[in-house]
Amino acid sequence: MIEAIKKRRAVRDYLAEKISDDKLNDIMAAAMYSPSANAKYPWDLVIIKDNSNKEKLSKLTPWAIHLKDASVIIAVIGHEKESSDWVEDCSIVAEHIWLEATNQGLGSCWVHIRGNDNAEKEVKELLHVPEDYRVLCLMPLGVPVKDEPEHSEEDFDRSKIKQESY
Ligand SMILES: Cc1cc2nc3c(=O)[nH]c(=O)nc-3n(C[C@H](O)[C@H](O)[C@H](O)COP(=O)(O)O)c2cc1C
Repeated sequence: MIEAIKKRRAVRDYLAEKISDDKLNDIMAAAMYSPSANAKYPWDLVIIKDNSNKEKLSKLTPWAIHLKDASVIIAVIGHEKESSDWVEDCSIVAEHIWLEATNQGLGSCWVHIRGNDNAEKEVKELLHVPEDYRVLCLMPLGVPVKDEPEHSEEDFDRSKIKQESY
């Protein structure tokens, strides 16, 4: 597990290659096995393969440009009214997607939507998301142009880890 965690990087450059259905199925399963506060599972996942939708989504924020080259984009939709923990639950879903994508040799990089009201409204319109649902993020999946270096201990500040008390 630690190997996959170290390999997971923000990958924003993808080859013009489709990802296989088998890989996508495993990634969707990884997402659906996520834990959930009070076992509410307050999410839906929209799989986007249509090029014109990818193009539109890539223009939503200045940090979304890499969406246009993804083979697939998964929109992580939260049910705000069903669970006050929808952000936590949906964030875990997104991370499971990212980790399993890494495990499958694919690249991904979270594109944040929640908190950007205009972007969220546009995603909801484009994907016909019900009014009272929310959009946490968009997770692109693609074959990486190159392997990013994996994380090592130099990347984090050990002083953030406290023993017994702060
Ligand atoms: C909550 C969250 C929001 C993020 N939003 C974006 C985004 O909108 N666009 C983007 O290119 N990267 C986004 N990222 C990716 C981060 O920039 C990236 O994870 C960070 O630079 C650390 O690099 P690493 O993932 O390779 O370890 C986001 C990551 C998280 C966890």
